[in-house]
Amino acid sequence: MLNPKVLKALNEQVAMEGMASQAYLAMACWCENEGMSGCASFFYQHAEEERMHMLKLVKFINDSDGKVEIAALNRPESEFDNIQQLIESAYENELSVSKSIDELVDVAEKANDRQTANFLQWYVDEQHEEEALYRGLLDKVKLIGIEGRGRYFIDKEVELMAAQHGEGEEE
Ligand code: FEO
Repeated sequence: MLNPKVLKALNEQVAMEGMASQAYLAMACWCENEGMSGCASFFYQHAEEERMHMLKLVKFINDSDGKVEIAALNRPESEFDNIQQLIESAYENELSVSKSIDELVDVAEKANDRQTANFLQWYVDEQHEEEALYRGLLDKVKLIGIEGRGRYFIDKEVELMAAQHGEGEEE
């Protein structure tokens, strides 16, 4: 049986992962409207991943005999000045998810809930990877530049990342 504070924090994380999924869906749509199909594929993929993160939490709560609360989600940001600003926003989003996971681990540890703390380790590792991914992407965008043909080269680069990521997922 889950401690009420742990259950509340887990449910808040369900909502956060759901919002991350919606945020990436909105980003995918923005990229598609801008003709950046490589970036759109990348963000569609990541919207799916965040949904998977949400479902993994849902399953854990259910398996722990807790009650899942599906919350209303805030409308995500859907307008961006350019692709660099969009990726900065995605990176900031990942930083806030990491902070929230760290706080959730704290709540579980304070409640002496080893099972939840252990389960959350997967999220700690995942956030480390995602932060590195978005930071790397942002560095590349800054290096290539968004002027002139920069957008085209960024799109090709991100398309490659999406394809490699897709192959990794199939393994
Ligand atoms: Fe599941 Fe990237 O937050």
